[in-house]
Amino acid sequence: DRGSMPTRRLTADDAGVQEAGALLRAGKLVAIPTETVYGLGADAGDPVAVAGIYAAKARPRFNPLIAHLPDLASARREGVFGEDALTLARAFWPGPLTLVVPVARTGRVCDLARAGLESVALRVPGSALARAVLTAAGCPVAAPSANRSGRVSPTQAEHVLGDLDGRIAAVLDGGPCPVGVESTIVACLDGPPVLLRPGGLPRDAIETVLGGDLALPEAPDGAAPISPGLLASHYAPRAAVRLDAAEIRPGEAVLLFGPAMPEGLDRAAIAVNLSPAGDLAEAAAHLFADLRRLDASGAATIAVAPIPEAGLGEAIRDRLARAAAPR
Ligand code: TXA
Ligand code: MG
Repeated sequence: DRGSMPTRRLTADDAGVQEAGALLRAGKLVAIPTETVYGLGADAGDPVAVAGIYAAKARPRFNPLIAHLPDLASARREGVFGEDALTLARAFWPGPLTLVVPVARTGRVCDLARAGLESVALRVPGSALARAVLTAAGCPVAAPSANRSGRVSPTQAEHVLGDLDGRIAAVLDGGPCPVGVESTIVACLDGPPVLLRPGGLPRDAIETVLGGDLALPEAPDGAAPISPGLLASHYAPRAAVRLDAAEIRPGEAVLLFGPAMPEGLDRAAIAVNLSPAGDLAEAAAHLFADLRRLDASGAATIAVAPIPEAGLGEAIRDRLARAAAPR
């Protein structure tokens, strides 16, 4: 009975890490902090445990999940790394990059976690605490963001409990996530690497290492998108979201960026600045927590000031566009 399961709060020390690992090995759901967002972890090789992720999140469909590993050597047991994938893994792991590669014959990630695909999404997180849990678990750990389906991703343990208390076995409290947006996803299948999702690793860093531009996914008419989890409306606060707001309307909740103060700000119900100094890394780290705060104000609309597209701005703008998409 998921509705009444007490959720334990584990501390970020060796006892907490070992307990999280033991729970994961036993097929339980444990929310773990990574450098990007908190993930809702389960043994990726155990279809019953993976099904529990969908149940706890109340996710309406089975999207493929990212399997998390403590190092490249264990990732290579799950997926086949060609030249580009190896180059990217060596350059950016551990870190906020997910690689989609062909499934290896030795792979343990179950069909349900891959949504039946012949490819698998793999990530070695930058968080040392997350890697310690993965080592303690000893299995690949499937982990989507630890929020209820359709809600804003959690960057603090309190966010996880707000959405999932009573529905999961434990949350390991590692404090706020330093990157704050999900990992960048790159597919290395046949052909050149493809950017499936902008994220915590900026595109230009990847293109510099590859020595060329990343391709974008092709979506031929009527074909299924290559990354089925990338629904337009995905990071949805309860309030409506209005992007690139140059002028504030009375009663709006306002998300600011940088020193610029939009017209009409004095009529706002509440205003929060992602980064008064205009620093995109700081803005990414605060994005989801600030969206939650503005949403909690009860305002009908969140107006978002313009945010530049460079560097991490691509991922921030992507998440905000999804939050603003019609539902
Ligand atoms: O930062 C992150 O990536 C966080 C933390 C917890 O690691 N995890 C995360 O997982 O964002 P999730 O499940 O929300 O996102 C997984 C994305 C989905 O959009 C899915 O479509 C894509 O990865 N994906 C997974 N496997 C895939 C595959 N074989 N082919 C294409 N896309 C895949
Ligand atoms: Mg998510």
